[in-house]
Amino acid sequence: MTSEITWEDHYKNATERLPWDIGTPAPELQEAFAELDMAGKPVLEIGCGTGTNAIWMAQQKCNVVATDISPTAIEQAKEKAVSAKVEVKFSVADIIEAPAVQPGSVDFVFDRGVFHVMTEENRFRFADRVAESLKAGGFWLTLAGSKDEVRENPEQGPPQLSAVEVITPMENKFEIHRLERSCFELPNGNKHVAWIVLVKKRSI
Ligand SMILES: C[S@@+](CC[C@H](N)C(=O)[O-])C[C@H]1O[C@@H](n2cnc3c(N)ncnc32)[C@H](O)[C@@H]1O
Repeated sequence: MTSEITWEDHYKNATERLPWDIGTPAPELQEAFAELDMAGKPVLEIGCGTGTNAIWMAQQKCNVVATDISPTAIEQAKEKAVSAKVEVKFSVADIIEAPAVQPGSVDFVFDRGVFHVMTEENRFRFADRVAESLKAGGFWLTLAGSKDEVRENPEQGPPQLSAVEVITPMENKFEIHRLERSCFELPNGNKHVAWIVLVKKRSI
């Protein structure tokens, strides 16, 4: 028997907003949308949590599919979409187990803090899932914790990946457009060094 805390446990047992759940759309997502002209396009968010970013993309007239492994997170995301009066196709799904959308059906995939929670083996699977979901030339934006942050306790804060750990699972199927140092600014005031990674699906 394992005592490991699941993502569902985090959401189900939360008495306040979880540390990563900033409640406002990620600025890096908004910047990428403007740069890539993504408004109105079909998009996918993997590990959408309580749906803030998926709802923001729907408000940009996108056709949005958003999935998360936690049923409680998806329930909360659906309630938020009703309040915001937008339509998002939310569903409970494990990205490693099954594709989230039809192959080649979206122009953009977003994940904030999801790729970085995967084991090394699953980061390769994750990148393959993203590639198969995207149309040729589609983009993936991921925000991931960075190993460049020096911490006394590595367990406190988001997982930390090196640039090599981020890029290696991607490079086979994606061109690297941007790998930039950034920062997760959390509602509790904590800041964590992060990677902004924008990649484009290779045409061959
Ligand atoms: C650090 S949280 C980030 C949530 C959200 N992206 C945000 O920024 O608020 C990681 C999220 O990934 C989800 N997750 C973890 N493993 C997953 C998997 N295999 N498939 C889909 N979602 C997953 C968790 O349930 C959780 O909501």
